[in-house]
Amino acid sequence: MRTLEWIPDENVLELIDQRLLPAELVKIRLSSCEQVAEAIRDMAVRGAPAIGVAAAFGMALAACRSEEDSFDGFMKHMRYAADVLVHARPTAVNLAWAVERILEGLNHPGVTRENAFDKVLETAQRMANEDVEVNQRMAKIGAELIPEQATVIHHCNTGALATVDWGTALGVIRMAHEQGKRVHVLVDETRPGLQGARLTAWELSHYGIPYEIITDNAAGYFLQKGMVDVVLFGADRVAANGDLANKIGTYMLALAARENRVPAYAVVPSSTFDLSLSDGTAIPIEERPADEVLQLTWKGRRVAPEEARARNPAFDITPHDLIKAFVTELGLITPPFDEHIPKILQSSAALRRA
Ligand code: MRU
Repeated sequence: MRTLEWIPDENVLELIDQRLLPAELVKIRLSSCEQVAEAIRDMAVRGAPAIGVAAAFGMALAACRSEEDSFDGFMKHMRYAADVLVHARPTAVNLAWAVERILEGLNHPGVTRENAFDKVLETAQRMANEDVEVNQRMAKIGAELIPEQATVIHHCNTGALATVDWGTALGVIRMAHEQGKRVHVLVDETRPGLQGARLTAWELSHYGIPYEIITDNAAGYFLQKGMVDVVLFGADRVAANGDLANKIGTYMLALAARENRVPAYAVVPSSTFDLSLSDGTAIPIEERPADEVLQLTWKGRRVAPEEARARNPAFDITPHDLIKAFVTELGLITPPFDEHIPKILQSSAALRRA
């Protein structure tokens, strides 16, 4: 199952509407970059790698629908589309990474007005396929860290739905399960959007992996009781020193894991590292509408008083010293991160250029 896919006959992007899961599995079709930006903003598509690839296809939609005759006019339109897409959500760096890669692909002598759309679509398709390959590579590397019998706490949704297919942290769990390991997952429900209770639980049911949903604030209890072997999560942006932004609650989970000497691993493709930031303080943190917190109902009634106000940061920063290692497609990255992260990422970028 792919979370998102280009439909060639109609030149549209089709994606699973994650707002409706698990009650309904509905696919929506998008035909403009503005519609893709709106789908990202409203979280019909979500998860750092998935929104990156969605944005790449958003660029393909812009290229396909462009009515500009000249190459210069076309490029002006593409820069407009890039701007619309990059501003859809601020935290996941994959969005800017994907859009920049498309723009770079257009900056070659062989690209003309006539073949520009084909080039953009080809790059977007390549990025979608690479995403699946990268996830499978990380899953194999990460599965080696999972004991034969293990209880894992997992935060947010990092599965096939958060990527093009397979997933990051959930991909590791899926691989360990397929290798015959007896993995039990404690699924953080992940307030306020409930990506854990809705999406991770839905995926785990499909894969036949045993799990139980826990409230986010129960994680410390299970860790303290010695009932957890590994903590796994993904990230939306990782600074050069290993500080990472991930779904709100990751910081508290990582703190509780360290306090109880349980290893916390971040499973992160190289596209999620942002070497332009030396540490996590400059990572922009998205604050989403208060309604997402206030609309919670209990026994059919709204929990919060009508006049209540709320704060809703969508991400937090987990300092690098709470992370045991990063699982990436380039291998395991261990401390000291400020030395190893730039070294490993830059040498792989140099290899790609050679
Ligand atoms: O707000 P979301 O649901 O887009 O946040 C997603 C996460 O925080 C994931 O953990 C992160 O993108 C890594 S998953 C591949």
